[in-house]
Amino acid sequence: MLKKVMEIAEEAGQIILEGFYKNKEVRYKGASDLVTQYDVMVEDFVVDKIRKLYPSYQIMGEESTTDTSNQAPNIIYIDPIDGTTNFVHSYPFVAVSIGIYTESVGDIGIVYNPILKEMFYAQKGSGAFCNGTAISVSKEDDLSHSLFATGFPYDKSTLPTVLKKFEKLLNKSQDARRSGSSALDTCYVAKGSLDLYYEGAVKPWDISAGAIIATEAGGLISDINGSDQHLKTNSIIVANGTLHKKFLEYINEG
Ligand code: IPD
Ligand code: CA
Ligand code: CA
Repeated sequence: MLKKVMEIAEEAGQIILEGFYKNKEVRYKGASDLVTQYDVMVEDFVVDKIRKLYPSYQIMGEESTTDTSNQAPNIIYIDPIDGTTNFVHSYPFVAVSIGIYTESVGDIGIVYNPILKEMFYAQKGSGAFCNGTAISVSKEDDLSHSLFATGFPYDKSTLPTVLKKFEKLLNKSQDARRSGSSALDTCYVAKGSLDLYYEGAVKPWDISAGAIIATEAGGLISDINGSDQHLKTNSIIVANGTLHKKFLEYINEG
C-alpha cells in the first residue's frame, strides 16, 4: 500500500509543480489564510485516488473540512499543499501531506516536496526515509545548541503570547527557522537537520503524516502540553526524547 500512496503523492506533486511557476487565483479563507485553485485541484485528485484504496476510511482534507472534531479511528488526513503562502510566493517549501491512521495509530505517512524533489515517507515499524535513505532525529540534548523551527498563527490575536514563547526559546537556543510548512518542519526534525519544531496552532492535516515519519525516525511527538492528543488539540512539539522534555520544562517555567 505504501508504494501506491507514494505514487499518488508523486502525481499530486506534478500538479503542484505545474502550478508553482504559473499565475494563481488567490482567495482568502481568513485575513491571511490563502487558498488557490491548485490547493483544491490537488485535494480533489488525492481524495479521488485514495478513496479507491481505502473505501471505508474517513477522509479529512484541508480544503473540504470545516470541523475537525469528529475523527474516526480509521482516518486519512490530506493537506494538498502545506505551505500555501510559500506556493503563492514561489518560495520552494511546499509539500503534499498524506497521513493514514488505522485504529487511531499512525500507519503510513508521506510528505512530498515536488520543487526540491524530497519524498519523506514512513510505515509503522519500518523506519523513516527521505528519497530512499533512512533518516533519524538528531541526538542534540542541549537546548542552547539546538536549531528549532516554529510557525506563526493566522489568528493574529494570539501573537503576543506566541511571540513571548518564541523570544524565550530564541534566547536559549542556537537559532530559529520558519519555513512556512509545518509538514516539512516535522520532516526536517525527523531527518536531524532541525533539532526541534513546535507550534501552538496547527491542524491535523498539517502534522499527521510528519508525526508518523518523525516517530519512525526516533522522535517524540506531543501537543504543546505534553499530551499525545496532538491530532485533536491542534498543537505540536517534535524532537528527540531528551530535548522534548527539556523544551517542555523550559517553556512552561516561570
Ligand atoms: C500552514 C503551514 C505553516 C504553519 C501553519 C499552517 P498551510 O499550512 O504549515 O507553516 O505555520 O500553522 O496552517 O495553510 O500552508 O496549508
Ligand atoms: Ca497546512
Ligand atoms: Ca494547505
